[in-house]
Parts: sequence; C-alpha cells; structure tokens
Amino acid sequence: MGVVVVGSANMDVVSRVPRIPGPGETLLALSFARGGGGKGANQAVAAARAAGVQTVFVGAVGRDADGDFLRAGLAGAGVDTGAIATSEEPTGTALISVAEDGENAIVVVGGANAAFTTLSDQQRERVSTADVLLAQLEIAPEVVLAAAQARPDGARFVLNAAPSAPLSEQMWAEIDVLVVNEHEAADLAQSLGAPDRDLDAAVELLAERVDSLVVTLGGEGCLVVENRRRTTVPAMKVTPVDTTGAGDTFVGVLGARLALGDDLVEAARWGSVAAALAVQRPGAQSGVPSADEVRAAR
Ligand code: RIB
Repeated sequence: MGVVVVGSANMDVVSRVPRIPGPGETLLALSFARGGGGKGANQAVAAARAAGVQTVFVGAVGRDADGDFLRAGLAGAGVDTGAIATSEEPTGTALISVAEDGENAIVVVGGANAAFTTLSDQQRERVSTADVLLAQLEIAPEVVLAAAQARPDGARFVLNAAPSAPLSEQMWAEIDVLVVNEHEAADLAQSLGAPDRDLDAAVELLAERVDSLVVTLGGEGCLVVENRRRTTVPAMKVTPVDTTGAGDTFVGVLGARLALGDDLVEAARWGSVAAALAVQRPGAQSGVPSADEVRAAR
C-alpha cells in the first residue's frame, strides 16, 4: 500500500511582508527564511509525515547544496528518495512573498524541474509500484502523462492541476481524481470552452470530464463531486499564518488516505484537517503536521 508522487522540488525563498507588493513597488521585508518546497515534494512529505503512508518521490534536483537540502528534508519526513534524479541544472527555486494575513504570491524558477523531461527506467519501475499516483503540473506534462500510463492496473491517478494549464485529451483520459482550487477550476473550464469564470458552471463542466473531482475552497473547505453528486467538506476554522503549501498538504493526505482504502469524501476530510493545521505554521514542508497531530485534531 503506497503512494508515488511525481513532481517538482524547490528551495522556497520566503520573505514575510506587510502585504503583497504591487507592480513597480519596493517593500521592506519583515523577515526572511529558506525551506523545502515544490508542489510534488510538499505532497510527498504530507503523504509520509501527515498520513504515515509509504511514499516514493520521483523528481529531479540539481547537483548543489539546495538539492542536498531537499533530499535530506524528504528523507527526514520518511519519503523514499531513491528515485530522485540529479540534474546538471540548478535545483528549482520558488520566490515567495507571504503577507501578514497569510496569503502569498509565488514565482517559480524551474531549474532541474524544468529539465526533467523524461522518466528513467528506474523511475518508471518505482511508478509501477504505486497504489495511488499523485502528480501536479509544475513539471513537464509529458512526464506526468508517462507516469500515469506507467502506473499498474488498479492504481488511481490523482492529478492536482496546479499551476493552471490546459490538459491534453490523453491526460484527461488517464485522470481518476482531479483536484483543483477555484481559480484552477475556472481556468480549466475556460480551456474547455466555458464562456466565463462562473464556479458552479465550471464544476459542472469538469464533472462531465472526470468521475471524481475535488475543488478546494480555501477556508471554506472543499467540494467533492463523484459521478455528478456533490458533497461539501467544511474546513476547521483557524487563523492562518502562512497558506503556502496548504493545498499540497491537502492533496498529499488525500492521496495517502485513498491508498489506505478511504472513500474520496473521507480522504478529503483527513486532507482538510491536515491543511488546517498546516496554515497555522510557517513554510511549506515545515508546516506539514505529523500523523499524530492530524489524528488528534480529527
Ligand atoms: O504549493 C506551494 C509550492 O508552490 C511552494 O512550496 C513553491 O515551491 C511552489 O512550488
């Protein structure tokens, strides 16, 4: 029973600022920190640490100190790091501003993630051990599609379509569970021909393409749609300190709980609790709670 995450790993370079700066504006930061990030690596840490499920991370980092730092962070969280390729490109970097209300703005410099364009035989072999395959869109879509096609029969493919990008017909055909936030839902619906950004209409349209859809709604929780039937999962009411990576914690735990045999609504409940704990702490991977903390909060 295990999760394989195929995706990005970044060094997050984080400034805390009074507010997100506007165009042409210079702001003085309140503090500065570096830490493990990247949507793929964050989801792997969440599956392993916050759900206690056997997790393999498939990705690429540079031959540099940031790459060593990220590998060590993943291993420390209990993630199997044996399928991380070493790239001649530098490790990916995310430049993150976090405002006092916990909201953020992120610019990603792809580096090794962008140069990760094919799955090696060894990485493909690790994908073939998955019960649940998790992927996002911070690496080449060709790699995500190749991983989805390499998963064993019966393994579910959970695609977190973040950051937003239109999906090929081949990709749509592989998806078992699609996870998006409100903006990504509207973007995807528009890529399918929706005339506007109405969320309700977007959910209807996306639910025509996939049997299982989860739309995260920030502090409002999430909407689970299975065979067009909608269930709302409310979020715990908390005061956010830093929302960076909260969506990744949600997806990682959701995937892990599916691997443990939960149905999608139950898996989303666990993900939602873990994400509510994560937003109360600074940093992406450093904010991921332990499985004991998540159990205690449920
Ligand atoms: O989803 C949050 C993540 O997005 C950050 O950790 C950053 O690295 C970017 O990938």
